[in-house]
Amino acid sequence: MSALNGRRVLVTGAAGRIGLVTVEHLNALGAKVTALSNVDDPELKADRVLIGDTRSESDVARALEGADYVVHLAALPHPSAGTPYEVYTTNVVSTFNVLAQAGALGIDRAVIASSINATGVPFNPHEIRPPYFPWDETAPSDIGDWYSLSKQNDENTARMAWRRWGIDVVALRFPHVNSADELQRMSDLIRIKPESGLREAWTYLDTRDAAYAVELGLTAPFTGALPFFVAASTTNAPYPTEDLLDAYAPEVPRRRRFAGREVPIDLTAVRTVLGFEARHELDLPTLSLEP
Ligand SMILES: NC(=O)c1ccc[n+]([C@@H]2O[C@H](COP(=O)([O-])OP(=O)(O)OC[C@H]3O[C@@H](n4cnc5c(N)ncnc54)[C@H](O)[C@@H]3O)[C@@H](O)[C@H]2O)c1
Repeated sequence: MSALNGRRVLVTGAAGRIGLVTVEHLNALGAKVTALSNVDDPELKADRVLIGDTRSESDVARALEGADYVVHLAALPHPSAGTPYEVYTTNVVSTFNVLAQAGALGIDRAVIASSINATGVPFNPHEIRPPYFPWDETAPSDIGDWYSLSKQNDENTARMAWRRWGIDVVALRFPHVNSADELQRMSDLIRIKPESGLREAWTYLDTRDAAYAVELGLTAPFTGALPFFVAASTTNAPYPTEDLLDAYAPEVPRRRRFAGREVPIDLTAVRTVLGFEARHELDLPTLSLEP
């Protein structure tokens, strides 16, 4: 039986792409979900559904009533999802509001949606690359947009909340997360233009695996506030990883070699601390790369 059985979990952004699947996953584990959403979606099935704004102190206070755990997904998830001001302030105010209130209430654990963009690499206006492979959570960030800045700041907010109130916070640095069909469609584009995947290290994650990572983030033995890269163990490109790196990132230091289509980010932390291994990977052939 899951440790979440019978426990109340607040999920923010519950009607979003990751939220809907996460709520379904937590329901199946026996959790009593309080869903906080700023949109009314008939697909959203939870024990309590509240329509509200994660920036509002009173909406979040109401949503946290009786909560044992928090999953904070609500955000404007792209630099162009609003004006720079809207994207930045919505994301950082929401994360502060949710974690500060949860911490002050004595809630033990939260999972928040960070992003591979906390590194600043994918949306950077300059042609930068990951600093080394396998890319890991200790790599320096280089931020050139407001969405990435908001995600980096969310990780700082998590550290503050843990230091102040002792709430443990797992910040999942999601890569592109989507349904199997959409991931396959994206992979078809990467096959034609493999270099377009470099700045995200050809990472991807099935939405069902994002929900599974959330479950482990809530239940794995862990204390502190840390970011975790999380991704499928393989790339979304139908080419050997070594060939991709030889062709498109020859100047980037490689600290080890990669086998087959192994993803060139370091999954050690998410594997060893949370026990995560993706369960839904793309079934791709390995083709020979002809740049
Ligand atoms: N999907 C991805 O590829 C991806 C990758 C990296 C990180 N993330 C992060 O994961 C989280 C979920 O992403 P998603 O793809 O499900 O996005 P989404 O846009 O589908 O869902 C986010 C939800 O949050 C809600 N929301 C936005 N502002 C709100 C507010 N002020 N109050 C209440 N609700 C609000 C939206 O209405 C939406 O339902 C986000 O934090 C996003 O930044 C997503």
